[in-house]
Amino acid sequence: MFIAKQLLGAVLASLAAVFVLGQGEQSSWPLHNNGLNKVIEWDHYSFLVNGQRMFLFSGEQSFNTFSIYNHWGFHNPAPGVLDFETGSHNFTSIMTLAKELGLFMIVRPGPYVNAEVNAGGYPLWLTTGEYGDLRTDDPKYTAAWMPYWKKVSEIVRPHLITNGGNVIMYQIENELGNQWTDIASKALNVPAANYMQLLEDSARASGIDVPLSHNSPNMNGYAWSKDFSSSTGNVDVVGLDSYPSCWSCNLSECTGTNGEYVAYKTQEYYTYFTKQSPTQPNFMPEYQGGSYNPWGGPEGGCPNDIGADFANLFYRNLISQRVTAISLYMIFGGTNWGWLAAPVVASSYDYSSPVAESRSIGAKYYETKLLALFTRAAKDLAKTERIGNHAYSPSSTVERFTLNVNTSDGPLTIPMHNVSDRKVPAGNIISGHRSKIIVTDFKFGNFTLVYSTAEILTYAVIGDRPVLILYVPLGESGEFRVRGSANRPSIFDVEETSPDSSTYAAYLSSDKRTTTISFTPVRPDGMELVRFREGPQIILTDRDTALRFWQPMLANDPLGNQSVIIRGPSLVRSARINATAKRLDVFGDADRAYQFWAILPREITSVLGFFVSHGQVGDNRLSYNLTALGPWKYDDSLPEIGLDYTTSNETWIDIQLCPPDTHNPVLYVDEYSIHVGNHIFRATFPSTTTPPTSLFLNITGGNAFGYSAYVNSKYIGSYLGLSYSGAGVIELSLANATLTPATSGVDNTLVVIMDNSGHDLREAAVAPRGITNVTLLGPSDRSEGGKGYSFTSWKIAGTAGSATGKIVDPLRGVLNEGGLYAERVGMHLPGYPDSKWPVLSPAAGGKTTTLSVPGAGIRVFRTTVPLKVPSDIDVSIVFKLTAPGYASYGEPSNKGYSNRLRALLFVNGYQYGRFNPYIGNQVRFPVPPGVLDYDGKNTIAVTVWSQSAEGVEVKVEWGVEYVRKTAVDFGKMGKGLRAGWDEEREIYA
Ligand code: GAL
Repeated sequence: MFIAKQLLGAVLASLAAVFVLGQGEQSSWPLHNNGLNKVIEWDHYSFLVNGQRMFLFSGEQSFNTFSIYNHWGFHNPAPGVLDFETGSHNFTSIMTLAKELGLFMIVRPGPYVNAEVNAGGYPLWLTTGEYGDLRTDDPKYTAAWMPYWKKVSEIVRPHLITNGGNVIMYQIENELGNQWTDIASKALNVPAANYMQLLEDSARASGIDVPLSHNSPNMNGYAWSKDFSSSTGNVDVVGLDSYPSCWSCNLSECTGTNGEYVAYKTQEYYTYFTKQSPTQPNFMPEYQGGSYNPWGGPEGGCPNDIGADFANLFYRNLISQRVTAISLYMIFGGTNWGWLAAPVVASSYDYSSPVAESRSIGAKYYETKLLALFTRAAKDLAKTERIGNHAYSPSSTVERFTLNVNTSDGPLTIPMHNVSDRKVPAGNIISGHRSKIIVTDFKFGNFTLVYSTAEILTYAVIGDRPVLILYVPLGESGEFRVRGSANRPSIFDVEETSPDSSTYAAYLSSDKRTTTISFTPVRPDGMELVRFREGPQIILTDRDTALRFWQPMLANDPLGNQSVIIRGPSLVRSARINATAKRLDVFGDADRAYQFWAILPREITSVLGFFVSHGQVGDNRLSYNLTALGPWKYDDSLPEIGLDYTTSNETWIDIQLCPPDTHNPVLYVDEYSIHVGNHIFRATFPSTTTPPTSLFLNITGGNAFGYSAYVNSKYIGSYLGLSYSGAGVIELSLANATLTPATSGVDNTLVVIMDNSGHDLREAAVAPRGITNVTLLGPSDRSEGGKGYSFTSWKIAGTAGSATGKIVDPLRGVLNEGGLYAERVGMHLPGYPDSKWPVLSPAAGGKTTTLSVPGAGIRVFRTTVPLKVPSDIDVSIVFKLTAPGYASYGEPSNKGYSNRLRALLFVNGYQYGRFNPYIGNQVRFPVPPGVLDYDGKNTIAVTVWSQSAEGVEVKVEWGVEYVRKTAVDFGKMGKGLRAGWDEEREIYA
């Protein structure tokens, strides 16, 4: 009865596989809603919004939906403290923006999110083990999440589609696949199921009445589906995560789930959905948008196998498996600023996503947009049956084929005509790792596209004119048949508007109101117009040109069709019609001079581009010169090793030593409400007549962490860290340390400084951070039969305020800064009084970008630089940190200076980079406008922790990744988010 008919598509992966979608047999699938409203409903085929079917494609421009995680730990910095107000803690604007822009939204508030963030998004106070079994119905854990969960639900409630907003789904938990202790017998995992139920009941009680959803981590769990069981914890709609090309640039992380890695090998989901959720849409709440880069991964990520071709092949492959709801993870990954990251990743969360960390968009973005335009225009995609499937084997060859299709004109073998006179081979072609969707009986206006071997870019009714755009790659030809016109259409070259010379499109035949045309794009950037007397128009173009088309919607209805079509700019953000002025106002970006071209309603007589002058961008505008960073000033940031240093109660937490076992106190930082960044331990031990000769240390801090130790101000050594190991065990000789004489009665002072790359994901979030074992070794140690050495005191300093329970920087939040001296007193903040600091390289007039620390120790460097970016220019700014050892670095300024360092980059107080050149690979650190003030002074601070007695150095530069003309005034961003220094900081010295 119902039909999915028109899309009789074939998705082809180079050689190989033909998946055919088309009219199906079964029509009796139940229509579901959650019993609370009928605004969002769903069935076997797709989601429906107010009765209208949708192909949900989540991302940005041209997509109709986007998704966000919320971070429990960010909003709940300490037990009992909730912050949804200060600065970016207030996320309501993203929901109002969704409404304004006309995008649906999926909210995924956790409580656990994963996302390669510190402890998977848990508040770090939860990692001490005091909160029972996490992700179960343990009352201690329930009491912990409940306040956050209630509040987040209350904040989202007014933005639900049922309340006039655009939030259409609410995801409960993330990747919790353990509903069963035994799937075959459906033996319920009661604590987990009760936990899910508690979350759902609470969300409902807070007024969340949109469908509750969940995403499964793999195809093994069969959890939470109402189709699979009627057990506790089920959600309304279940979906599946998948990263067929591995979620990490370290491919070995995925073999357990994905099997041996084969580039461009798709996975089969269809069978799983049939079993797990047959009466629900095939839904991918997370589908691979890219991969994260682990500490030891390649510089810049691993874009190769997950680039534009990946997007082309895999997203179409999902359609062939009847997936009608896809959310890409990530469409934009951005930066793990501060200590947001989990130990597995560094500062970059670029994710090789369609939108890069630097905000630049490239081939993958354009490729993804191509499909997004199609899925928006091809309404039939939301209701399909699979009527065939061919085996799939990845290959990069060029393949030619014909296809048998059923159409309203009967069975046809397409292409039907030999176009070898066109100097391209006959037949359909798939080149390399690509796929195609070939449609039949696609309606446009009163016409029907009976078949087309060219793909559809989009279809729109502009004013009263139905416009269809078809494309094939250069070097291929497309053939299509149209029914609806009794007349032969006229064919024009769009730019020349003169009759075509027939090298591009050829009229083949016309019969019984059908017209068959073949076309072969012969030059880049060409467009040909096929105009039917009855009104409809078809634009023919090549694939590269198609990538640069935009279709901004004119109303904020995510399912609406009222739009215009634009070609030329590198980005169109939005467009609106000014009816009085009969003008189209276009907001977007331009990266170079281009010809503006658009299809507009007839009544529009002019276009105002808020990023172009008179239709063109002058090349001369497209540059921006950054003034070199500097002059730099510097100060010491490790006064704690000084013997005259006093440990104040505002900063230092006294660790209770429990006699007689004073040699082994609890030195796990989270026990003392110290959670992120650098931690400093200060201990004292007495001198004896048989003094210790070495120090044994076992410290745990997450992958890539490190530590250094000092005794009586003297450096005794470091653990430099490893990209793949979270614990470091070393024994350091005390030979360099001058211990106090036994008779002096003066204790020795040990200082250990460590950093902490975050808490691990999932259950491992509770793995401790800090000193597991610290033992003085020597003639009197226990293994020698002696009494052993003991400590007389232990103190720990962490982030300013942690000793007194104060959140000193609520604006930037508790993940931003750690416990370095420079951070505690606020040397990273704008306005810190550094006028008395020495200038680096005064001889060179302060003109150096090389920041050095002559021995072991920690220094902080500061400079301020102005930016005056014109309001119609967007500049992508990237900091670059390098150190000796990098190919481009050259010789260090001083023989012996190495890369054994850990540097932190602060921009206007925000930590935007962790540079560990001894371990990691990240040298580029993009910083967005808002954090940077594009219309004012910027404070740049860099802390450099030298883990080498010979000294270290790091070169700090910044550069421009791109310049664009833009409609957005970035200079206005972030006011109020760059709070400055305050004298109160001094108490944390
Ligand atoms: C998913 C998870 C995400 C993220 C991703 C890998 O399975 O839901 O939060 O961790 O893996 O980047």
